[in-house]
Amino acid sequence: MNMIGNSELSVFPLCLGTNIFGWTADQRQAFEVLDAFTGGGGDFLDTADSYSAWIPGHSGGESETIIGAWMASRGTRDDVVLATKVGGLPGRKGLSGPNIRMACEDSLRRLGTDHIDLYWAHYDDPETPIGETLEAFDTLIREGKVRYIGASNFGPERLAESLQISRREGLASYIALQQHYNLVERELYEGPLAKVVADNGLSSIPYYGLARGFLTGKYRTGSVVESARAAGAAPYLESERALAVLEALDEIAEARDVEVAAIALAWLAAQPTVAAPIASARSVEQVSALLDSAELTLSEAELVLLNAASA
Ligand SMILES: NC(=O)c1ccc[n+]([C@@H]2O[C@H](COP(=O)([O-])OP(=O)(O)OC[C@H]3O[C@@H](n4cnc5c(N)ncnc54)[C@H](OP(=O)(O)O)[C@@H]3O)[C@@H](O)[C@H]2O)c1
Repeated sequence: MNMIGNSELSVFPLCLGTNIFGWTADQRQAFEVLDAFTGGGGDFLDTADSYSAWIPGHSGGESETIIGAWMASRGTRDDVVLATKVGGLPGRKGLSGPNIRMACEDSLRRLGTDHIDLYWAHYDDPETPIGETLEAFDTLIREGKVRYIGASNFGPERLAESLQISRREGLASYIALQQHYNLVERELYEGPLAKVVADNGLSSIPYYGLARGFLTGKYRTGSVVESARAAGAAPYLESERALAVLEALDEIAEARDVEVAAIALAWLAAQPTVAAPIASARSVEQVSALLDSAELTLSEAELVLLNAASA
């Protein structure tokens, strides 16, 4: 188990992403995935009020509703660390105080719980004073509706400013950053953003751990993958660096006799500041690679090989 930042939240070192619940996984498949993940020791779930609002006919909240139904049917609320987000749902966008309060009530209702363990600001909101956002989060924490807060998709300056305001005003403070980071997208995080996270004792909980499926190794030049995610993953085949990463992953996965996906996630988990990478799975088979990653510790030589290929 890993601790998140300086908080008392301790989590399985791989977080299950659930943006695909209600999208590429229907409720039955989602229940199977959740059963397999928790059955294998996983406890950390990531959702958002806006999942899966981008699907025609959906209004958002579908993923939260499925998780709520699963927790009710299995009686597992107290066995999971539940993270959801505010700020990205059409009609409930932004981080104003009133919006956060209303969005939180909606999420609690859909999830069928009285508290959220980790509540993420989904996107920075330059239109709202940072103090207003933090005051709203602070009130929710004092009311017991939220345990901890995190920042997602924030730049280094605004994250640092938020942390400074929390300290100065004595308000609740972000304990973690959720951002795009994986073996084929290192520069987005490594550098100033990682420095703010490290300097302030936060943890990184990176998303797109599998580069939307590319880092599972199923996308190969000349092959066609049947997946709703293909448009986001296949373009990496045009990148020489991404192909070099695949070659290094193949070599290590073969030597270790595990799936490529498990190695890609183990690399991410080994990076400084990372407490738990996020990856999603739409079937029980896919979950097993995610669980395997949590058991793996890459050797120094394996890390050097992957670092060189992805540099
Ligand atoms: N904060 C934010 O703004 C933000 C943004 C994006 C995502 N997220 C979070 O991060 C989570 C993960 O993101 P993501 O699902 O978009 O990307 P991802 O984890 O990089 O890719 C997951 C996809 O890879 C495929 N896959 C997974 N395991 C596999 C295996 N063992 N073998 C073959 N294919 C496998 C599945 O797609 P197919 O089977 O359909 O190919 C799955 O949906 C989300 O669920 C969400 O919680 C947060």
